[in-house]
Amino acid sequence: MAAKRKALVLGGVSGLLGQSAADIFQDAGWEVVRIGRRDIDFSAKDASYRLEGLVDSEEPELILNAVAYTKVDAAEEDADLAGVLNRALPATLGRIVKTRPCALVHYSTDFVFNGKKKSPYDVDDKPGPLNVYGKSKLAGEEALRACDLEKCLIIRTAWLFGPGRGNFVLTILNLAKKNKKINVIFDQTGSPTYTLDLAAHTLKLVEAEEYGVFHLVNSGQASWCDLADESIRLSQIECLVNPVRSQEYPQKALRPAYTVLDCARLFRVTGIKPRPWPQALRDYIYTYLAPEMHLGNEG
Ligand SMILES: NC(=O)c1ccc[n+]([C@@H]2O[C@H](COP(=O)([O-])OP(=O)(O)OC[C@H]3O[C@@H](n4cnc5c(N)ncnc54)[C@H](OP(=O)(O)O)[C@@H]3O)[C@@H](O)[C@H]2O)c1
Repeated sequence: MAAKRKALVLGGVSGLLGQSAADIFQDAGWEVVRIGRRDIDFSAKDASYRLEGLVDSEEPELILNAVAYTKVDAAEEDADLAGVLNRALPATLGRIVKTRPCALVHYSTDFVFNGKKKSPYDVDDKPGPLNVYGKSKLAGEEALRACDLEKCLIIRTAWLFGPGRGNFVLTILNLAKKNKKINVIFDQTGSPTYTLDLAAHTLKLVEAEEYGVFHLVNSGQASWCDLADESIRLSQIECLVNPVRSQEYPQKALRPAYTVLDCARLFRVTGIKPRPWPQALRDYIYTYLAPEMHLGNEG
């Protein structure tokens, strides 16, 4: 019997995307080694030494990096740590895989763009991040490009929801259960994306041995208000979504107004067109949240 293909999934123990990616690769027959904080603290001084040792002992065919500093507002006052996780870690991974027969998948974000465009962002559009988080993620991409790796896939994604960890949809539904009316921002538009779809399409790209920069999000676009509204409707909760402007809901980090991502390159190369986000959202809510919310299953 042929040996299983082996992947190290950084963030695979607790990350929103990392857990879905680890599950999808495992279900597809890969041997998956999930790396969490208990294995390596990537902000520690000895992290790169330990990571290199781990790669040499496990000899994976693929490293999938779903570790990041993702707290967009906190990053404004924690630029050093954001830089360690979002720039230095990918740089270290680039150095490690450069001299080993190992492919690398790294995730980046729609927040590398300034949001001033009025149509979906293509992979070749010029980045211009508005906040510390976006700048640190762009620096991570640049560090990887500087390594000039043969087998490196950089996937920009956005507005994630999925099982295993808190996310915008879960937060909204918890608020909606406790309130008759909630305020949600309507003047930011993006690409809501289901982690399980993202992971499944990542697997396809890996199997097709496609490398370079890809945008990978569910189809369609939404404001935070649209996403909240649809989540509440699908969950059959009685709660009104009151649209508010970003200005009325001040946050530490400036956010881009429009960051819908265009997946044209993904389609050109693989023929994959991710399904519309409302379909994916329905799957997430009915599969993972409905039992808890007693949706349609109380006889
Ligand atoms: N979430 C989104 O809406 C979104 C949007 C666009 C792009 N992305 C990108 O998608 C990727 C995955 O994001 P996500 O939402 O899945 O992130 P997440 O849920 O916040 O997970 C981040 C992972 O990194 C780990 N981590 C953080 N600091 C660490 C440290 N010092 N040592 C070891 N592990 C550490 C976390 O472990 P702990 O649980 O122990 O903290 C967690 O497993 C990231 O590259 C992110 O930039 C996300």
